Amino acid sequence: MIHALAYAKVNFGLRVGRLRDDGYHSIDSIFQSVAIADRLTVAAAEEDAVVGVGGRPVADGFGNLVFRAVKAVRDRADSQQPLHVSLDKAIPAAAGLGGGSADAAAGLAVAGRYFGVSREILDSLAPELGSDVPFCLVGGTARVSGRGDVVTAMDGLDGFSLAIVVPPIEISTPAAFHRWDELGDPEGLCIPQRALPPQLRDEGDLRNDLYPAAVALAPELDDWRAELEERWSRPVLLSGSGASLFGFFIDSDEAAAAANSVPKGARFAEACDLVSVGWRMTTEP
Ligand code: C5P
Repeated sequence: MIHALAYAKVNFGLRVGRLRDDGYHSIDSIFQSVAIADRLTVAAAEEDAVVGVGGRPVADGFGNLVFRAVKAVRDRADSQQPLHVSLDKAIPAAAGLGGGSADAAAGLAVAGRYFGVSREILDSLAPELGSDVPFCLVGGTARVSGRGDVVTAMDGLDGFSLAIVVPPIEISTPAAFHRWDELGDPEGLCIPQRALPPQLRDEGDLRNDLYPAAVALAPELDDWRAELEERWSRPVLLSGSGASLFGFFIDSDEAAAAANSVPKGARFAEACDLVSVGWRMTTEP
């Protein structure tokens, strides 16, 4: 039986480029793993199963990214060993926090250990599962380009914390990219360098180009952002295609105070430290 934690990610800026012939957009972003984690357990079994905590069904069953990841590794290992996969979700879904991708990356890593499949093969399977999976397999802090498949690890960041809020809005990533095309490739709001933690200032201004598309799909997102900026007295960024919003704070105490002062109705509001990995094996579930 192997246990692992699968960490969420946020985007420190997301620049979007043209729609490619393969239907994906090129992107340029700094991805950062954060301490919100799903828990994954994989064990040998009599027959395949994929269940949520307490035996509850998981979204899409065997079509869930975590099971597809484990199965991809098993197929590569030419094995038919049935597996019981259980998933305890903490990362909010459809929030731009990469929950499904984190689960898939942890699934690749765990199955890779179980079947003795090399890291090189896991790296080659990752982009097939989703654009954010290659980053989640690496984790920490990385510049990500291509369609998400070009991951260059960066020195780890520390010395600040985040408050992350998910408003009661779900945004589909394909819908956000599609709306971005319809809107004529807009640029997102610019967060000036001076408003960023010093550790991020070398990167220039940060902006998330999917912001106008996310607001076109869910106009109340802009009200949430404005309200949080007012309460926190600082700029608030969108992660991925949203709807998660976050701000930078000097430490986890300040981030926790900020997370406690959000409007009622948020799906999620927590202080989150940065982490230096995308997944981690653990001895306990
Ligand atoms: O790769 P993933 O399955 O997560 O992507 C979901 C959808 O999001 C893609 O089918 C595409 O419509 C859109 N997308 C994109 N450009 C990216 C990543 C995703 O257009 N770089």
